[in-house]
Amino acid sequence: MFQSKILGLGKYVPEQVVTNHDLSKLMETSDEWIQERTGIEERRHIKKGDGNSTAIMGLKAAKQAIERADIDKDDIELIVFATLSPDYYFPGCGVQIQEMLGIKTCPALDVRNQCSGFVYGISVADQYIKTGMYKNVLVIGSENHSGGLDMTTRSRHVSVIFGDGAGAALLSRSDDDSGILSTHLHAQGEYIDELSLRGPSTEMWVPEIIAKNPQEDIPYFPKMNGQLVFKNAVVRFSEVIQEGLEFNNLKKEDIDMLIPHQANLRISQFIQKKLRLEDSQVHNNIQKYGNTTAASIPIALTEAWEEGKIKKGDLVVLAAFGSGFTWGSVILRW
Ligand code: UT7
Repeated sequence: MFQSKILGLGKYVPEQVVTNHDLSKLMETSDEWIQERTGIEERRHIKKGDGNSTAIMGLKAAKQAIERADIDKDDIELIVFATLSPDYYFPGCGVQIQEMLGIKTCPALDVRNQCSGFVYGISVADQYIKTGMYKNVLVIGSENHSGGLDMTTRSRHVSVIFGDGAGAALLSRSDDDSGILSTHLHAQGEYIDELSLRGPSTEMWVPEIIAKNPQEDIPYFPKMNGQLVFKNAVVRFSEVIQEGLEFNNLKKEDIDMLIPHQANLRISQFIQKKLRLEDSQVHNNIQKYGNTTAASIPIALTEAWEEGKIKKGDLVVLAAFGSGFTWGSVILRW
C-alpha cells in the first residue's frame, strides 16, 4: 500500500463582494441578524459577465494547485470534481476541467455530496493512490450558488448563507511519512429533504414545474430546515473527528489545525470548544466568504497554508457535514 499526500493547494473567489447590508436591500434581513446567527460579514458572488462559472473557478483554483505542486498537468491521472452547482445538468464539470487543462483522456469523476463533497473527493483520490492505480489525482470543489438562490424574504434563512468560490488540491503518492492517515465517510438518506433542491430533475421535469407554477415550496430553490441541520451538524462533526482520531490512536490534544467545513461560525465554535482547541488551531473564514459548500474546505485549507498556519509534521483534520445528510473527516500529517 502507498500513502497519498497533498502536494499543492489552490483557491479562487470572484471579485464581487456582497455585504450583509447589500442583501438587506433585497430582502428583510440585517447585518446584525446575519452576523449574530452565522458569523458571516460578506461573501463573494459571481458578477454577470465576469467570465466565471463553477468549472472556470475550479480551473483557476486547479491551475494554482498544479503550479504549486510543481508537476506537469499531463501527469494527472484522475480528476475528481465536487459540486452541487455544475455548469451543465450533464455531463459534470470534471470533463470541462480536463478539456480546459488540455489533458487528453484521463478519467474525470464528479462527486455529488454537497458540503461533504471535497472530503468525499479526497477519500476517493486517496484510495486510488493507496492501491497504486494512480500517482497524481486532482481534486476540486467549486460552487456557483449566487445564480440559483431565491433572493427574497421567503428564503432569507438560506440565501444569506451561501457564497461562490473554488478550491483545489493536487494529491500525489507520498515519498515520506507525511500524508493522509485516514478518511471517514458517512451518509444518512432519511434526512434527504431537510436540505435539498428538488428540481429540475427526472422526478420533476421543467415543464411539470412550469405547469404547477408554485408560489411556495418552489422546487428549483434550495430549502433547508436550518435548526435540524444545525443540531445534526454539531453531533456529526464531533463524532466523525473523534472516529478519525481513534482510528489513528490519536487524541484531541494531538490536533494542530482543524479545518471545519464553513457552514456556520457558531457550529465551528461549538466544535472548537468541545475539542478544547485554541483559536490558532482552527481556521475559519466564513466571515469573508460565507458557506461555499464543496469549495469551503479547500479554500480554508489553502488560506491557512498560505498564512503559514500549517507546518511540516502538523496533524491536520478536515471535517464536513451537509445535505444528504452526508459527513466525513480526513486525518492527515502535513
Ligand atoms: O453547509 C450545510 C449545512 N448547513 C448548515 O449547517 C446550516 C445550519 N443551520 C443554521 O446555520 C441556522 O439554522 C440558520 C443560520 C440557517 C438559521 O438560524 P436560526 O437561528 O436557526 O434561525 P431560524 O431559521 O430558526 O429563524 C429564527 C427567526 C425566524 O423569525 P421568527 O419566526 O422567530 O419571527 C426567522 O424568520 O429568524 C428569522 N430569520 C431571519 N431574520 C432576519 C431567518 N432568516 C433570517 C434572516 N434575516 N436572514
